[in-house]
Amino acid sequence: MRLLLCAMLSFGCTLLAWSPYASAQHATAFDVIDGKQAYQQFCANCHGPDGDLIVNVDLGHGNFRQPYTDEALAAIISQGIPNTPMPGNPAMAQAQILQIVAYLRSLAVDQTYTLAGDPGRGQSLYDGKGNCSSCHRLNGRGSGLGPDLSVIGRTRTAVELMESLLDPQALVQPAHRGYAVLTRSGERVAGRLLNRGAFSVQLLDRDERLRSFQFAQLQEYGFIASDMPSLRGLFDEQEIADLVEFLALQRGDAQ
Ligand code: HEC
Ligand code: HEC
Repeated sequence: MRLLLCAMLSFGCTLLAWSPYASAQHATAFDVIDGKQAYQQFCANCHGPDGDLIVNVDLGHGNFRQPYTDEALAAIISQGIPNTPMPGNPAMAQAQILQIVAYLRSLAVDQTYTLAGDPGRGQSLYDGKGNCSSCHRLNGRGSGLGPDLSVIGRTRTAVELMESLLDPQALVQPAHRGYAVLTRSGERVAGRLLNRGAFSVQLLDRDERLRSFQFAQLQEYGFIASDMPSLRGLFDEQEIADLVEFLALQRGDAQ
């Protein structure tokens, strides 16, 4: 893959040689997503959620002002940049700093970012242990409770895929928000919100039936966490990498 890219990109391979791979060799999906959370907590105030709020600084696409090594980036985060508003974080653990570095690296060429997963094993996990088709449709097979994943590799970056698996509630598409109602007759129905008007609400219940309720019929109603389970604690690093690799390949090319 790297060779292929080198051949395709006219501005040279050196860029790719050091860019995400330097840290990707050791970083896991857990590091990247934990790094994203730390970034949002400690850096986004100034740099913005996409890393481009400060003039002439772009943290969101790997376009640093210099070709920093991971160590140099870690040093900037730890010590700050003297005589500028960029503060140091002397109390931050080195492990967390490296997670932020892994996250920033992952944004660089995110479509090609790889955790060295095995898509074949990813497919086995998808069909087996993950039981993903109990909620997702893929190339016409599986349930419609969750989003169709047939072209997910086209519409999501690797980082977004990792986040969907590890912190699903962080990034729920509006069309897939969970919703629950309690009717006056005591029936509880939960599922995916399809539409909410002034007087009524429609959802797809967990048996994939379309249900419609007048608000006047309801005792309680509102958003709930989506049904997508977090795979933290259930899948290890390698398994997450395998699944992400498998999902990234779902681009609708098979048909
Ligand atoms: C108080 C605001 C502020 C916070 C918080 C902050 N930064 Fe910065 N950062 C800046 C400013 C301003 C600059 C540009 C400094 C300069 O002029 O050289 C900068 C520069 C940088 C650079 C150098 C970029 C380049 O291309 O040379 C990196 C990397 C960086 N910040 C990372 C981070 C990270 C990661 C965090 C969170 C741990 C963070 N910053 C938190 C304000 C901030
Ligand atoms: C109990 C039902 C359920 C199971 C099991 C489930 N998911 Fe999901 N999944 C959902 C729902 C609902 C959403 C949409 C809401 C959200 O993003 O949290 C979703 C969202 C996603 C997304 C993000 C889709 C997008 O458009 O961004 C991905 C990727 C995903 N799931 C992959 C998987 C994989 C891989 C598995 C198996 C390991 C799995 N899911 C198991 C219900 C489920």
